[in-house]
Amino acid sequence: MGPLEQTIPPFPVLDDTRPQDTSLPAFMVSTTRGFLPRMDPIVALPPEFDALESILQRMPVKTLSGEPGLLAAGTLGETVVNELLDLTDAVDRYRANLPLMNALYRDYSFLASAYLLEPCHQRFVQGEGYGLARDVLPVNIARPIAKCAELCGFKPFMEYAGSYALFNYRLADPSAGLASSNLRLIRAFEHGLDPASSEAGFVLVHVEMVKHSGPLVAGAVACIQACASRLAPSPSPSPRQALNAALSTVLSSLQKVNATMETMWTRSRPTEYTSFRTFIFGITSQSMFPNGVLYSGVPSTTTTNNNNNNNNTRVSFRGESGANDSMIPLVDNLLSIPMPTTPLTKILQDFRSYRPGEHRRFLEWVQQAGEEGGLKGWALGLSSCSHHHHSGSSSITRLTALENGSVSRRDDGEGKDEDEDEETKTETRALWIQVLDQVRDFRWRHWCFAREYILKRTSHPTATGGSPIVTWLPNQLAAVMDEMVRVYGAVGGLGPGPGLGREVEAIMDRVGRQREMLRKEVRRFCKERGVEAAGVSDYIKGSTSSLRRGGGGLSMCIPTW
Ligand code: HEM
Repeated sequence: MGPLEQTIPPFPVLDDTRPQDTSLPAFMVSTTRGFLPRMDPIVALPPEFDALESILQRMPVKTLSGEPGLLAAGTLGETVVNELLDLTDAVDRYRANLPLMNALYRDYSFLASAYLLEPCHQRFVQGEGYGLARDVLPVNIARPIAKCAELCGFKPFMEYAGSYALFNYRLADPSAGLASSNLRLIRAFEHGLDPASSEAGFVLVHVEMVKHSGPLVAGAVACIQACASRLAPSPSPSPRQALNAALSTVLSSLQKVNATMETMWTRSRPTEYTSFRTFIFGITSQSMFPNGVLYSGVPSTTTTNNNNNNNNTRVSFRGESGANDSMIPLVDNLLSIPMPTTPLTKILQDFRSYRPGEHRRFLEWVQQAGEEGGLKGWALGLSSCSHHHHSGSSSITRLTALENGSVSRRDDGEGKDEDEDEETKTETRALWIQVLDQVRDFRWRHWCFAREYILKRTSHPTATGGSPIVTWLPNQLAAVMDEMVRVYGAVGGLGPGPGLGREVEAIMDRVGRQREMLRKEVRRFCKERGVEAAGVSDYIKGSTSSLRRGGGGLSMCIPTW
């Protein structure tokens, strides 16, 4: 047992997802299905829930038969009041079956969001603003959703993984697996039961991306194992070669994820996003919910963390958002990408509580194991990351420990680790930057989505998860580009010598250009929308001089936004 194992036990990542086992939560982490649920989502509910099923089938603006549904007529609210009993006791009878609890959580959360936001949809289709949503959830939705959310470890409001996206697909032909043409939605708000619709395309592209996350998980774990093995009393033959193989696995999986993301443009039309989006807004920071939402009949302790036990506490949750997907946060943590200390980054951290418990714990484990093991410093062959201005980072602490000789084997800081040849180390550095570049690629495309699907179509200032629409995505995109410049400079990419190869050079050239484009676009959108640029001003006003002359890029870090 090596030093890492002594402090951080290995994480239970599954190789066999045990799809028939109903005692485990639907969402675990595996090397085969990655962050997808262990089994394909449950579609059919037990007969006690027939009334719920009936309402959900009649609910979408366009139902499966093509007929207009309750949300088209604006009659969902009264239907919920007239037809649905409080089925909390029935939920409780099935509590031992966790995947079924997850299906019920999904279904009640669809109903809750549709019920609350129905009036906003009515106004939106008439060309008006959203106005106010309903802000009292009736007992026949509030109690059962609180119960199944509690049993599954979710918040009692629609989430990305447990409900809207990753637990909302079914296979048209069960024998044909997860092929793109074989996927359908289980639940939808607008036209999503039609697989050619923009709503279906939007959700299913997420699922198809996450389908590639098995190797991403396996690669991340292998990176951590390689790092730990170098500190073991009898290290395996070549920890660095193992690291390079693991980083290559991470890289190729991210390339597939990004290539699939690119299909969004044709699967879901930019002009149609804002109409089904009305139903996926959250409560937090949204003008539709100035006072939060009251969950009737639910003691406040089950929906909030406060100690107020009366039944009238209003609560708020962030909405469903891809920000709660686990793939990019996994790589953020694996590579210890520093985020600036800003209110925008606080939102990023807040998002991380809206995901399945095992995903959350896995991400924390990766971060901790990487930092405690000194993964970044070792991988890059740096004895000190003191040039990183984020002095709170524990990877720096670990690097200091390495310098103090408190571990047996270490890089000497000159890039001449005894058992390592320069070529293998150069390969690690190039791979590290290529993986960072995939994160940049994801976030850059994502910024383009935000521009084309949202910013050009609506002036509503907050995204579905309640983040400010103009500045939030650039906060993280700029942080990744900064990190790339910093790492490139720190490993000697800018100096004389052989460098890291033509491919990495091309990557860094693109980073330089994109960063300028981002700066201009954010500045323009802030101006157009009169957005308080307080949080972003340093960046917006910052020097536009070339990244290549930035003293190794270190001066290009965004200090405060
Ligand atoms: C038309 C397509 C898309 C649009 C318009 C869109 C929109 C947004 C917006 C506005 C945010 C800000 C957070 C918030 O909701 O408050 C966000 C965050 C995020 N979304 Fe999407 N999204 C799209 C597709 C995707 C896809 C396919 C994924 C794949 C998993 C994804 C993953 C993410 C992630 C990881 C974040 C957090 C970004 C970060 O950490 O910098 N999104 N999205």
